[in-house]
Amino acid sequence: MNNFVLHGNIIYSKNADELNIIENGYAVCQDGISAGIYSVLPGEYAEYEMIDCGNKLIIPGFTDLHVHAPQYAFRSVGMDCELLEWLELHAFPEESKFFDVNYAKKSYSMFVDDMKTGFTTRACIFGTMHTDASIVLMDLLEKSGLKTMVGKVNMNRNSPEYLCEKSAEESLKETERFVHLAAQFKNTKPILTPRFIPSCTDEVMYGLAEIMNKYDLPVQSHLSENPSEIAWVKELCPWSSSYGNAYDTYGLMNSKTIMAHCVHMTEEEMDIMKNKGVFAAHCPESNINIASGISPASRMLHEGIKIGLGSDVSGGTTLSIPRAMILAAQCSKIYWRYIDQKYKPLTLENIFYMATIGGGEFFGKVGSFDEGYEFDALVLDDSTIKTTIDFKLRDRLERTIYLGNKHNIIAKYVAGNKIF
Ligand code: GUN
Ligand code: FE
Repeated sequence: MNNFVLHGNIIYSKNADELNIIENGYAVCQDGISAGIYSVLPGEYAEYEMIDCGNKLIIPGFTDLHVHAPQYAFRSVGMDCELLEWLELHAFPEESKFFDVNYAKKSYSMFVDDMKTGFTTRACIFGTMHTDASIVLMDLLEKSGLKTMVGKVNMNRNSPEYLCEKSAEESLKETERFVHLAAQFKNTKPILTPRFIPSCTDEVMYGLAEIMNKYDLPVQSHLSENPSEIAWVKELCPWSSSYGNAYDTYGLMNSKTIMAHCVHMTEEEMDIMKNKGVFAAHCPESNINIASGISPASRMLHEGIKIGLGSDVSGGTTLSIPRAMILAAQCSKIYWRYIDQKYKPLTLENIFYMATIGGGEFFGKVGSFDEGYEFDALVLDDSTIKTTIDFKLRDRLERTIYLGNKHNIIAKYVAGNKIF
């Protein structure tokens, strides 16, 4: 049995607008699940191993709801392009190398090492269209101890010949082969991954919806990221009333779907996301870098659309979810100042919620220390972030998000298992 107690300063979300802060408290892990947070440890846990974290901060792990593993090697290159040019000049040429599983192993090992040592405990990850390389990625992730979902990408049109599946039939057949091969893993699950509508024919989209229903699988894709992409979808799907409506018509919008970006959302798309319980992956760094725009993240959060954060490496340059949190807050302030004053800028409480429960909910009971949640935790030593001031815990959390880095993490747990 994996039973222990972390003793220290515990911070987690009460809801999207409030934090629970327990100074000098006890976080009890019982067989990988939180048995609650206490100021005084109940006698029934007295025999559990006690891990004294002193004055450090104990928070839930972060979820990266949208990241492209094969793009890790060229992060921070091509940042002067817009989305479609960036795909053509940078993403597609690099992703084509993953037909070679040896190259995949080399590149994916770097990606997984960085994920393992960072703030992320859960992630939803795009591979490439190559089934075997995507299994290599899953194997490395499984060994890391993180809990993730990985997708072999579907792309059978409007892609360069060197990175395009030959037919809808082949794309769907490879997807099923991928799903069968992925069954060997325990903590690394398959997720259906049509790249975006411009890359997938209707036949692939309807076929994926069938596979989704047959195997009860989740789905991830991109939605309304960039104006040129949206105009292109309008041409490709003249029968749809919006980009989101097209995904919905294919049967791919439900409570096990993640749509990345959601920057230029119509009212209809907002309604679909809300009514179908689709998760939005807000990726502010990518939205700035490849000039997509500023997403109405505060509106989505406050109107009850499920929303978490994504690094979107390598539209985003870093796997750091704290960076995504900072940029989410900063972008929301610009949005509020220049675009719409109806929704207040995102607060520390809001971005912390999005990084923990907001994205974690895609994995079930994840992102909180409330009883019954999977015990994902980070122990943070902020003593190296110098100051003369004796800050309260909320301020220490804020400073660690804004000024800290992975070297401030001194221990990491996923479902009660110690990663380091
Ligand atoms: N849309 C389709 N493919 C991609 C991708 O790789 N990155 C981003 N940011 N958007 C996409
Ligand atoms: Fe993306």
